[in-house]
Amino acid sequence: MGAFALAASACSSNVGPQDYMSPEGPVSRRADQLWDITFMLAAIIFVIVEGLIVFALIKFRHKPGRQAAQFHGNTKLEVVLTLVPALILAGLAIPTVKAIADLSQKPNNALEVKVVGHQFWWEYEYSDLDVITANEMHVPINQPVYLTLEGVDVIHSFWIPKLTGKQDVVPGRVNHMWFTAEKPGEYWGQCTEYCGLSHANMRLRVIAMAPDDFQTWISEQQQPASSPSDSLALQGEKVFMEGPCINCHAVEGSDAAARIGPDLTHFASRGTFAGAIFDNNAETLTTWLDDPPAVKPGSKMPDYDLSQEDIQALVAYLQSLE
Ligand code: CUA
Repeated sequence: MGAFALAASACSSNVGPQDYMSPEGPVSRRADQLWDITFMLAAIIFVIVEGLIVFALIKFRHKPGRQAAQFHGNTKLEVVLTLVPALILAGLAIPTVKAIADLSQKPNNALEVKVVGHQFWWEYEYSDLDVITANEMHVPINQPVYLTLEGVDVIHSFWIPKLTGKQDVVPGRVNHMWFTAEKPGEYWGQCTEYCGLSHANMRLRVIAMAPDDFQTWISEQQQPASSPSDSLALQGEKVFMEGPCINCHAVEGSDAAARIGPDLTHFASRGTFAGAIFDNNAETLTTWLDDPPAVKPGSKMPDYDLSQEDIQALVAYLQSLE
């Protein structure tokens, strides 16, 4: 029952269309233009070929005394039928290869973000700015964002349809891609390489902000975690530091420094959690902590059989990490 409630609440959040044909940045727009050229060319060829078939069906339909049509041995026709498609494909290759080459260049004055794919969530490291977060990537508008993509377990694929194409995230390899967001807003994305039970629950979002707002966000994220003040949150901190949480998670400024699961230093500043599939609030957190794999199949965070008292304390602590 809890799983259904959680799923319903997740569906009500802003799941914006993941629409690659409505580009909102130069990289995705370039891909969309290629698609337009290819589609229009294919449409023209379709009309010509189908038109000729219909014409031939009518003009050369069976009549008494007629022989079936026969092209075998007509060398000229066969040469033309081979050359025309070859030339069309060669023509299409020119803008395609040019776009691939242009988009492979590292853009100037880019913001650099390292993306690490985990089963089943995304880690973002702003190495130059000393910020680590998960699932929600904040970026300034009108500045290229250069991604370095790495994987730690299996192959994932990173995709933000409105901003850029897909790029595989492969353990032992370093891949790159970039994008620029032109308008402030939320852009949803998705892991697009089957990576296990919760592949479909490995979502992401990019939050594009005005440069000033981005600077504010960065300075907030650079702070160590705020210390809890109310007694329930303090109790939660104790459960966190003395229980199993500390084995996988980091909270900057505390003893927790593990990098297996998401860094929780500013957990409460995020709108979603667990692969950006759940809205971040007390109700969803309670359901999650009660039995993570029940609401996110294959979750690496096991069911620790926490008592309701410990869960409420942990929720209070997590919500104090702004
Ligand atoms: Cu990660 Cu699919």
